[in-house]
Amino acid sequence: MGRAYRAMLGAALCGTAIAATAQESTQTVAGEAHPALWPKAKSQGLIDAATEAKVTALMVRMSIEEKVGQMIQADIGAITPEDLRRYPLGSILAGGSSPPIGSPDRSPAAPWIATSRAFNAVAMEQRPGHVTIPLMFGVDAVHGNNNIVGATIFPHNIALGAARDPALIRRIGAVTAEETAAAGIDWAFGPTLAVPQDDRWGRTYEGYSEDPAIVASYAGAMIDGLQGLPGKGGIQRGRVAASAKHFLGDGGTADGIDQGDTQVDEATLIRIHAAGYPDAINHGTMTVMASFSSWNGIKMHGNKSLLTDVLKGRMGFDGFVVGDWNGHGQVPGCTNTDCPATFNAGLDMAMAPDSWKGMYETTLAAAKAGTIPMARIDDAVRRILRVKMKLGLFDPARPWEAKSDTIGSATHRAVARDAVAKSLVLLKNRGVLPIKASANILVAGDAADDIGRQSGGWTLSWQGDGNTNADFPGATSIYAGIAEAAKAGGGTATLSPDGSFTAKPDVAIVVFGELPYAEMRGDVRTLEFEAGDKQALALLKKLKAAGVPTVSVFLSGRPLWVNPEMNQSDAFVAAWFPGSEGAGIADVLIGGKRDFTGRLSYSWPKTAGQFTLNKGTPGYDPLFAFGHGLSYAKGGSVPALSEVAGVDASLANTSLFFTRGKVPAPFSLAIDAGVQRSAADSATTQEGAVQFTWTQAGTARITGPELALVREVNGDLNLQITYRTIKAPAGPAMLSLGGGKVDIGPIISATSGWQVLRVPLKCFRDKGANMAAVTEPMALTATAPFSIAISDLRLATDPAGAVCPK
Ligand code: BGC
Ligand code: BGC
Repeated sequence: MGRAYRAMLGAALCGTAIAATAQESTQTVAGEAHPALWPKAKSQGLIDAATEAKVTALMVRMSIEEKVGQMIQADIGAITPEDLRRYPLGSILAGGSSPPIGSPDRSPAAPWIATSRAFNAVAMEQRPGHVTIPLMFGVDAVHGNNNIVGATIFPHNIALGAARDPALIRRIGAVTAEETAAAGIDWAFGPTLAVPQDDRWGRTYEGYSEDPAIVASYAGAMIDGLQGLPGKGGIQRGRVAASAKHFLGDGGTADGIDQGDTQVDEATLIRIHAAGYPDAINHGTMTVMASFSSWNGIKMHGNKSLLTDVLKGRMGFDGFVVGDWNGHGQVPGCTNTDCPATFNAGLDMAMAPDSWKGMYETTLAAAKAGTIPMARIDDAVRRILRVKMKLGLFDPARPWEAKSDTIGSATHRAVARDAVAKSLVLLKNRGVLPIKASANILVAGDAADDIGRQSGGWTLSWQGDGNTNADFPGATSIYAGIAEAAKAGGGTATLSPDGSFTAKPDVAIVVFGELPYAEMRGDVRTLEFEAGDKQALALLKKLKAAGVPTVSVFLSGRPLWVNPEMNQSDAFVAAWFPGSEGAGIADVLIGGKRDFTGRLSYSWPKTAGQFTLNKGTPGYDPLFAFGHGLSYAKGGSVPALSEVAGVDASLANTSLFFTRGKVPAPFSLAIDAGVQRSAADSATTQEGAVQFTWTQAGTARITGPELALVREVNGDLNLQITYRTIKAPAGPAMLSLGGGKVDIGPIISATSGWQVLRVPLKCFRDKGANMAAVTEPMALTATAPFSIAISDLRLATDPAGAVCPK
């Protein structure tokens, strides 16, 4: 599903790119950089005469096919080791949801090592006319080696930004590298050096800070950690190549739209978005990943002035530029399988996950025809081989692989636990923190004992969804950490996600926040937390009414408008996405031995509409300024906050159409005369379910303002209905969204009891829905007799068991 989705995304966005370019064409020199304005830098440790001579000797022997092959990277989900005999590619990757050969996506290290070895074995085979060159295997090890079951998962970068601690970043880089190399992988697609400027962007948490200075202070440290210090022979063995990403301007896209257009002048591009790159280059980053996004209408994958003149010229970058996932396909005139323009612009290796075969063939043809000059091919190949040599890939000995005491070791977890404690930001404390270790603590909230929730996106799966605690051997949930601390201090901790209790606790720690998400799916329209359905708020109110003091532990990938929740909390802690070592939270909250030191690396909004609230911007009026963070030593409380979100509600809720008996704003329900509505029988556990009964042919429909769901289709979203069939429909039951109709009659007739039906948005699109302007996100049309109870209706991401009815 993921791969098909990517293909569609490429196709969908190609059109957008062309349209944007046409619009911009009236501007002069749109997207054209002036290298002399840019900071100078120089790759350290990548070039030396001996290595260059070896590269030359190798290149003399290579055929043009082998050279072009080096420039193409395929995803292991779409290539077999055997394919490499015919297509001599230079690199493979495992995307966020691509499993190792013959194993599930959630696998421990062994199948990953076997996969890496299986591909490399073919690359290194002695065959006539074949020059053996080791493959380079990359993954998104972006908060630890987060693809591997049992690995140490670090807090996401937004949290690390709050720690203000470059030395910690270096240690995290080193641990990540060791756990990645130990799993047979050579290359981590990080660090992300984005400087996110609009918190609606779903990748905000991948950036250390809205402040370029923090990003700059971390860039070199992370490169040193991941790669080790460049020595004479190459980088430190047992580490991995880094990839500074996404070059350039990924964090500046208009409206915070992923893969969008960064519309800023060159000075701003340099001052804000390029801040981390000089140091990353100076510290020898071996690769830089091109951004999906555009600068003033020009796609980065096609921007020669930035990729070649600035990055490789002015900034002296001697490693290679890798593309992002079919990012080349978005360059005007290109497709996923054909794009000489990207190489001519300066890309050295195209990430062609599922498109590698076509990309190889067309690139080869372009090389032979001279559409891509031979000098450009040779430059790209030289850069790639240089990196492979400096990385030590030509040395078959890899003693660090499969060492059983590396991945998830106690020492590594201790680094992560410390990072969690350092990244917590205390926003409010009405004297309830620190909690005495002898207290009786109620641990409430739906994220209290959920390691997947506390880890966020890019964790075991691409979007971080579908994880259970069993997927994290050796990890500690936030609740488990609290329980341990309470036990040690003579207190108790009782887990109660819904906040119910029998004996009144001394205090409740309530853990809640955003669900995991990654690129695209994480984009939001306003900064209001739980717009439409304030479940956490209800829980906090319930506890308050019972006279229990509350400490909110808020998990999020960005600052959000939480004034109502904060008003109901006696203490409020921004905990971001802390990762596998939940005990780091108890270390600070309980016992009072460790104080808060974290400070906001992003400004905290006063309204849900302060999307681009950034330090130093005109009219800066945050709730909590950049750099804010309370401590036990300093104290400080917060007065009652306004509960007016300050944004149009219709902006906020675009995905929740019905829940707990209500149709939330801005949607409304309309039913035809032949359909009756009543409260569903109480023999159900579904709170507030509503029953619809057809006495004659008719429709029940939900309508609202126009929604553009094009990207949601590409993002694998489903219309999700929680229902119970009371009387099976006599004929078809046509479910429609945006006018595209599918018959769910057969499916719902065959079920009894409460069920969840997920219909991918693409099914409605395929039936003719206009996804660009949906005003009717659901309609159900049937004839009598038919009766169904519905308790919840929303757009949801969980792809498990989604079906496209005939
Ligand atoms: C991600 C990959 C992921 C894939 C899903 C991509 O966008 O970057 O890592 O596996 O989509 O197919
Ligand atoms: C993301 C990159 C990532 C790549 C490989 C892309 O979709 O934008 O950050 O490294 O996929 O998974």
